[in-house]
Amino acid sequence: MSDILIDCKNLQKTFYTGGVETHALKDASCIIRRGEFVSIMGPSGSGKSTFMHVLSFLEEPTGGVYSFDGHDALTFDGATLARLRNQEIGFIFQAFNLLSNLSVWDNVELPLLYDFYTSGLRRGKEHRQRVESALTSVGLSHRSDYKAQYLSGGEKQRVAIARALVNSPKIIFADEPTGNLDSKAGLQVMQILQELSEKGHTIIMVTHEHSTARHASRILRLRDGVLESDEKVTDRLFAKNEKELK
Ligand SMILES: Nc1ncnc2c1ncn2[C@@H]1O[C@H](COP(=O)(O)OP(=O)(O)OP(=O)(O)O)[C@@H](O)[C@H]1O
Ligand SMILES: [Mg+2]
Repeated sequence: MSDILIDCKNLQKTFYTGGVETHALKDASCIIRRGEFVSIMGPSGSGKSTFMHVLSFLEEPTGGVYSFDGHDALTFDGATLARLRNQEIGFIFQAFNLLSNLSVWDNVELPLLYDFYTSGLRRGKEHRQRVESALTSVGLSHRSDYKAQYLSGGEKQRVAIARALVNSPKIIFADEPTGNLDSKAGLQVMQILQELSEKGHTIIMVTHEHSTARHASRILRLRDGVLESDEKVTDRLFAKNEKELK
């Protein structure tokens, strides 16, 4: 098995809205290996979210080459894409995107219900253990029965991380995961992402904050839809140590 998970060349995405063309992504090429923790930076409107949506199969590129886990991603059919999005990819968003009326447990269980309906997987012991272990890894097992709406922002984001983890995805995409959090809750989220990275999860995170980006091992920079730099982080930050300093 190759250690390359993502290999893209000259990826492009143009939106056509109301007769207007927007070249959101003009030229992005990179290789991401299994287990890497990569930040994507760039000014507002530079195409960070678009790039992430293309890499995570939420948007189809309009040009370029994209190989995911050794396969030409542009040939995947709808069923394959749905399975990939559900089982091999975990998503974390700035706005958490939890269902506020459901309990913490039910939110984390959601991705497992796809299997339940498509392959008849029973909601048995293994299923319960997966939800429990995802909640434990973000330190929230004691909040399982809480309705999502009663949680703090930091707790909501940790539930969103547990939901992203429950299917043991190959790769986790996080778009501004600390954007709505204060610095303490933000560091807690960074610590969880760094722990996941140490366990071998591949993580791709969009952020516009330089200090947040430095928790990754590598930074890709976009400007006007062009991926113009790709650098190793030489002064990496470790959230665990920073929390001790606070
Ligand atoms: N679905 C869409 N339809 C039309 N234009 C879009 C769409 N999504 C993004 N764009 C445009 O593409 C460009 C890049 O947007 P994108 O959301 O990728 O930027 P970003 O770097 O994530 O910005 P921010 O830091 O503000 O989140 C912007 O000009 C935006 O208006
Ligand atoms: Mg964005």
